[in-house]
Amino acid sequence: MVEQQVMETSTKTQPAESRAAKLVREAFDSGRPVTYIHSAEEQRVARVLHEVGRIMSDASPVAVWTWTMTEGLRRDGAAPEPDTADARRALDFVIAHGEGAIFHFKDFHAALGESAEARRRLRDAYESCLDRRKFVVISSPVRLISEDLERMMLFLELRPPDHVELMDFLREEAARLSPDGRAPEETVLHQVARALLGLTLDEARYALRRALAQGSRLGLESMPAVLEEKRLLINRSGTIEFIPTGTHIAEVGGLQNLKKWLRERRKLFELRDEISSEIVPKGILLMGIPGCGKSLCVRAAASHFGLPLYRVDMVEIFSGRHGKPEGAFVQACRMMEDMAPAVLWFDEIERGVTATVSGGEEGRIFGFFLTWMQEKARGLFVAATANRINELPAEMIRKGRFDEVFFVDLPTEDERVEIFRIHLLARKVDPAQFQLEQLLQFTVGWAGSEIEQCVVSAITKAKLEDRELTEQDLILTAASIVPLSRTMKEQISYIRDWAFERAMRASPKEAR
Ligand SMILES: Nc1ncnc2c1ncn2[C@@H]1O[C@H](COP(=O)(O)OP(=O)(O)O)[C@@H](O)[C@H]1O
Ligand SMILES: [Mg+2]
Repeated sequence: MVEQQVMETSTKTQPAESRAAKLVREAFDSGRPVTYIHSAEEQRVARVLHEVGRIMSDASPVAVWTWTMTEGLRRDGAAPEPDTADARRALDFVIAHGEGAIFHFKDFHAALGESAEARRRLRDAYESCLDRRKFVVISSPVRLISEDLERMMLFLELRPPDHVELMDFLREEAARLSPDGRAPEETVLHQVARALLGLTLDEARYALRRALAQGSRLGLESMPAVLEEKRLLINRSGTIEFIPTGTHIAEVGGLQNLKKWLRERRKLFELRDEISSEIVPKGILLMGIPGCGKSLCVRAAASHFGLPLYRVDMVEIFSGRHGKPEGAFVQACRMMEDMAPAVLWFDEIERGVTATVSGGEEGRIFGFFLTWMQEKARGLFVAATANRINELPAEMIRKGRFDEVFFVDLPTEDERVEIFRIHLLARKVDPAQFQLEQLLQFTVGWAGSEIEQCVVSAITKAKLEDRELTEQDLILTAASIVPLSRTMKEQISYIRDWAFERAMRASPKEAR
């Protein structure tokens, strides 16, 4: 009989079950009557238990009872049962209770620690709840449980809320906080929920309050405030930085092969839950000459995929400020799994390899990284960038780790013109009035960043003289800039030769 019930609950199609509810329900389904949930978020645990109560039953939801040291046991919305503030008495009540129910004991570890009688009674409750669809759930911000009890209970940690849980929370919270009591449109809620991924519910609540403090209702115009709060909260981790993007792929000049690849992969990435994991895009490695648009491409990729961008700070990881580098790195990767779908950017990843740390740490980190790349959540797209490419371990570049390894070279002539155009347009100067081809002879060996610098200097010069920018300004400025590639000639030809056999060119033609 009980087995059958279990079967029914687990085969029932519940597309909207949150990750946290699934974890708890599976604990219940496996026949564990006592569960210990380690979480500082009591309200959240309560929400999750209500969700489980709804999912476990087709008819009316399984009732959730709550116990606190001050009030005792009470059923949702009802007055507390008399005499149940005492832990032992509360457990007597559970044992005597005839119907299936979930009993949520908040901070019960304290009462259990103090009373041998209560501990004994919990063991009786275990027997009495077994196979009777009665479940005792202890929630506490600390993991503190005596050894005799530890063996009989299942211990759970809740990872941050997923999209389903955030949606549920947002529907309620946004309606409560809005002046007319109506929840915003679902599409808005979906977007906000996506933005809040990775935060705890308490943090999500701050972010929401902050957004609503500025406007009256939650709408798309609240997004900047939500994202800003998220940026602050994530950045507290110290090793991961949330980067608000908005770089359009058209802001990247040249690099046609790379842009084509990104355009094609977007579709596959969107289908990630329906297609075989082998063809879900995992990530790219961009290596090449500094200032040629690798970082820019990563930002554009995130916007193009419609995903938030997080940057892992390798220097911070190796700084020792976050414990051992290996632990800090693993933790950052795990934290990111809770934020999927997202683009995760390892900027100047070779720094991780070259950082001088105690014996073998880097090797272990890269070993972990390579395995993790294969196993990580489908919704994470990794973008790694590297300048000093020859310092990367060979196994990192080997095919199969990343979907593709691109070499980003100095821009070709056509690309240089395009980059001039992009940067002029970005500063509201119409490029059509100039013969940009004239600049080519002055910009041999230039990186994209140098073109940007030239445009900015020329515009500044014109502004200071209180006039419009002229072609002459651009030419004079260009003639005065010495590109890095001239001083780095040898390194650059070395990088090119090295990359030649190991990577795909981001740009179809070769710069000369
Ligand atoms: N291909 C390009 N198209 C447009 N702008 C570019 C390009 N390459 C470089 N830039 C400009 O130079 C800046 C620095 O480039 P960045 O992407 O940080 O270089 P990298 O990461 O390869 O060292 C960019 O923010 C952008 O303004
Ligand atoms: Mg860069």
